[in-house]
Amino acid sequence: MVTATSFSVEAIRKEFPILATRLGDKPLVYLDNAATAQKPQVTLDAMDEFWRTSNANIHRGVHHLSQMATAQFDTARETVRRFLGARHAHECLFTKGCTEGINLVAQSYARPRLKPADEILLSTMEHHSNIVPWQLVAEQTGAIVRPIPINDDGEIDLAAYGRLLNERTKIVGLVHISNSLGTINPIKAMIAQAHAAGAVVLIDGAQAGPHLPIDVQDLDADFYTLSCHKIYAPTGMGVLYGKEALLEAMPPYHGGGDMIRTVSFEGSTFAGLPNKFEAGTPNVGGVVGLGATLKWLMALDREEVERHEAELVGYAETLLSDIPGVRLIGKARQKAAIVSFVMDTAHPHDIGTVLDAEGIAIRAGHHCCMPVMERLGVPATARASFGLYNTREEVEALARGVQKVKEIFG
Ligand code: ALA
Repeated sequence: MVTATSFSVEAIRKEFPILATRLGDKPLVYLDNAATAQKPQVTLDAMDEFWRTSNANIHRGVHHLSQMATAQFDTARETVRRFLGARHAHECLFTKGCTEGINLVAQSYARPRLKPADEILLSTMEHHSNIVPWQLVAEQTGAIVRPIPINDDGEIDLAAYGRLLNERTKIVGLVHISNSLGTINPIKAMIAQAHAAGAVVLIDGAQAGPHLPIDVQDLDADFYTLSCHKIYAPTGMGVLYGKEALLEAMPPYHGGGDMIRTVSFEGSTFAGLPNKFEAGTPNVGGVVGLGATLKWLMALDREEVERHEAELVGYAETLLSDIPGVRLIGKARQKAAIVSFVMDTAHPHDIGTVLDAEGIAIRAGHHCCMPVMERLGVPATARASFGLYNTREEVEALARGVQKVKEIFG
């Protein structure tokens, strides 16, 4: 039963063609939104329209199609600016994904600046994509990566964070919403603390994009990354926001076409923002799809979406906790869209396999977060992650599926 709010989940579901899929005699119950979200018709239409009517390379042609493609690409960047609350569209760079955005900052911002014994603070709940790029740059520079501890509920230990910050801290990397636990971190306060210590902060917003309104100026984030395919937009794309002054001072990350002013064998000069960081032909049709998706998302009542998703999480936690032998992993007071759990008798992969036979898609594994698994003493979890189109009936189907796991494995 859908609860009465002005947000109509039934209407939203009709906008996602894939949700009508049936797997044998069972309806698809898609609860793997943290891995990738499904795409609304508006996104599919925008991309189809682009490929059929406007396809050309951008910034390279005086001809009609190239100008149309360039205009649509630039319009999408302005939509991204609005979505992030950035001051300038040229602070919003298109990348191949959230991961590339973090690597770009590590190599282009941090590598030229870090000195031996400088410190990079990362929370224990970071995704590997916000750990490994920093380990690589630490190796290159002699800097040191230090983990910020978390408590048993999966919340950052803020007192420990305060103690770790010092004059050697140059970078702080924090996930906005944990992909493995669902914890929403208090990033605004943590950014302010980092700034007071003289550090620059990168926020991994991969999971926050679909669930929370974002305002990078209000947060005062130095860098903020998005994963487009998790925000109901196409795969293979991310956004890196950076403050203008920081991006201006950074060297290019990739060299190639469209990022230069002049090239000769004596040396090259580079374009201004954003082109300096966007070498090569981008995913133009995908960016057009992203623009359409973000406009659609921003037109929804985001508070109602948040309320709806919070209700799904609460309901899932209640139903799953009532099943003997099920243990929730990650009990933060501020949580979004994700429920991770383990069972006494079944490995997460077995849970995932039994649920799949019921038409229910979840993710099982370490979720690219091995340090947080180690900290919480589990090798892996089963993870149900919700999108705005999920329903209470689907949460009930999940609970019935987990009951079935229990019947099979005891
Ligand atoms: N990082 C994505 C996830 O958590 C793939 O599933």
